[in-house]
Amino acid sequence: MSNKHIDPIFNTSTAPHFQDVLTASLANPKRRSMLLGGLGLAGLSVLPGCATLGTGLGPVPTSLGFPAVPKSLLDNVILPPGYQYSVLHATGDAMDSSTPAYANNGSETDDWSRRIGDHHDGMDIYYIDDQGKYSEKETRRAVLCVNHESSADAHFLHPNGQTSQGVSGKKFSQFGEWDLGSRPELEVLKEINLHGISVVEINKAPTGWRVNVSSALNRRITPQTPMRISGPRALIEDIRQKMVTRWDTSGSMSRGTLNNCGHGKTPWGTYLGCEENWAFYFQTTVGGNLTDLETASRKRYGLPAAPVAASVKKTTGQGWHTVSNTDDRFARWNLAAMGANAEKDFRNEANTFGYNVEIDPLTPNATPAKRTAMGRIAHEAAVCGLPAAGEPLAFYMGCDSRNEYIYKFVSTALWDPKDVGAGLVAGDKYLSEGRLYAAKFNADGTGEWLELSISDPRIAKYAAFTFTSQADICVNTRHAADAVGATPMDRPEWGAVNPRNGEIYFSLTNNSAANRTPFKVDAANPRAYMDMDGKKTAGNPNGHIIRFKESEKRSWSKTFAWDIFLFGAEEDAGDANLSGLTASNSFSSPDGLWFSKTTGICWIQTDDGAFTDETNCMMLAAIPGQVGDGGKVIAKNKMVVNGTEQTGTQETFISAALGEAKLRRFLVAPKGSEVTGITEADGGRTLFVNIQHPGELSAPLSSGKPLESLWPGNQGVGPQGRPRSATIVITRQDGGVIGL
Ligand code: FEO
Ligand code: CA
Ligand code: CA
Ligand code: CA
Repeated sequence: MSNKHIDPIFNTSTAPHFQDVLTASLANPKRRSMLLGGLGLAGLSVLPGCATLGTGLGPVPTSLGFPAVPKSLLDNVILPPGYQYSVLHATGDAMDSSTPAYANNGSETDDWSRRIGDHHDGMDIYYIDDQGKYSEKETRRAVLCVNHESSADAHFLHPNGQTSQGVSGKKFSQFGEWDLGSRPELEVLKEINLHGISVVEINKAPTGWRVNVSSALNRRITPQTPMRISGPRALIEDIRQKMVTRWDTSGSMSRGTLNNCGHGKTPWGTYLGCEENWAFYFQTTVGGNLTDLETASRKRYGLPAAPVAASVKKTTGQGWHTVSNTDDRFARWNLAAMGANAEKDFRNEANTFGYNVEIDPLTPNATPAKRTAMGRIAHEAAVCGLPAAGEPLAFYMGCDSRNEYIYKFVSTALWDPKDVGAGLVAGDKYLSEGRLYAAKFNADGTGEWLELSISDPRIAKYAAFTFTSQADICVNTRHAADAVGATPMDRPEWGAVNPRNGEIYFSLTNNSAANRTPFKVDAANPRAYMDMDGKKTAGNPNGHIIRFKESEKRSWSKTFAWDIFLFGAEEDAGDANLSGLTASNSFSSPDGLWFSKTTGICWIQTDDGAFTDETNCMMLAAIPGQVGDGGKVIAKNKMVVNGTEQTGTQETFISAALGEAKLRRFLVAPKGSEVTGITEADGGRTLFVNIQHPGELSAPLSSGKPLESLWPGNQGVGPQGRPRSATIVITRQDGGVIGL
């Protein structure tokens, strides 16, 4: 989601902050050096020109091979000299030959279920072999899965913007205010169907990768696509009881997926679409009463817990339930307990969102599965650790809201490489049974995975929410993580795994002054300072990237060692610029994160609102070392809190400096967009990258004011006029490997 949007906090738990962490550190000062001791020498053998990390993937380069792209406020994708891009697909493109071409003026009268969705986000590529089966090796035929996150720019899909929006005169916002009157059916249908996931076949032509519009593999997963509720065998009936609605009184099926942000690719070749800010699509009108437990659950997820009185004329959310048609397609977005029981209304509808949704990209008739064992949070992405035959698989997941947690799911089943290509059958094997953990970052550079288990008395006897079984933990995961004292983080976004050493990286995009002050920091979230130019006032406006290494490199380890890979900052930010960034690599609000297996480059994508007075959002290339290769650093914090200047220091651990040789800006995006989603092809010679919501800060269409962005139409791509999200394909003019 965009950092420019409001990001409410629903974690009001008092998880340990500075004092608790300090106490723990003093009690056990040797732990960090013990954990780090075993990994010190392995990665330090430096050959001329290359550092070998011993994984068989080939040497990691010691410097990047392109000149840094300067900061840019232009309305185009800016790349280094010698690089070029084309648009693979953009919002509204037809996905079959019978759907009319996109007009880009809101005139479509179809329901959008056969068009590329909006807000391109996480994505991955699935190669197809000569037999039409999934291939781990690159071929010239593939399916590209793309998440379509949100409808924050849905006004571009209608002739004159949204009809019931902006009653307070505010600019458009996903969490804006809505007239409670009835919204038009076609308008709402288009908005519903622009969400979800697009699955399209792409083919490598002599001129590059192209969408195959007539492929039978092309399909859309939308918020209306039937899905099955999957979970642990012993708990599934209990879990389904929490999903009972008028649409499926057994709770075994649900409809659709929503706000798919980052993603995951499983080792067996399926796609995980992660449901992030699903809570903001619901409303609760007057009628019926909620139990205390239902209310406690809703509050922790930011769902409307109290009914909106009939006298209130405006509401947040999307207003989809206001379509006057009594059809369940619209009624389902109202969580009021209006019926005699849950079988008669949609009070449980929100319990069917907040999961990782597994789809089989190469099997169009496979019913997607909601993997409840992996927890219900604002799932940003789900990244699998390096799979090892005969060992459990670990999936790392961030919950993207301020002060939320990083999670790990460890499969009960042990990885068997013969399951590659087994589709959702393999998914049922690995993603239904397992253990769920939340991360605690200690002040001494160690960390612990806290298991979320009903047998833990902190959960079984938790005061703020009554857990009756492990099934409650699958559905009310945030409460369980509160109960065990996980570390609240500065908005966990994407995770990524370094394929050469298995270390896990997480973007922590930013946090506000309400949560970070010089007196409210900890070692893993150590900065509190004022934004240089006042775009965002204070807190941790530029974010950081943390990384960790599982003890003994085991997916099922209960402990890890961590340090901070990079601190985002403006280059002239003084004490806040802890990573020594320069004009060539300064950045703010890291979000997308991904490693190229080919080059070992860690690609960093931003979704920013703090540095955008100087530059649009961007993508950088980094060549990382390993956890523990740097040392201690003291964050010198200073900010004005309630009119009074506060100062303080916080010790933390930082990676070895990368400098301009190993960290450079590679791409700057069009105006108002974020950069998100990335994968590669052709042995690292092609990069697919998503540009999301160009022109997001445009005034409503009805104002008649110029749009913030006209990309990609302004580059001669598709119909001109309104801006569109898109997947771009980046290559080098000389056909070389990207980044080196
Ligand atoms: Fe959807 Fe957290 O970005
Ligand atoms: Ca994101
Ligand atoms: Ca500046
Ligand atoms: Ca700024």
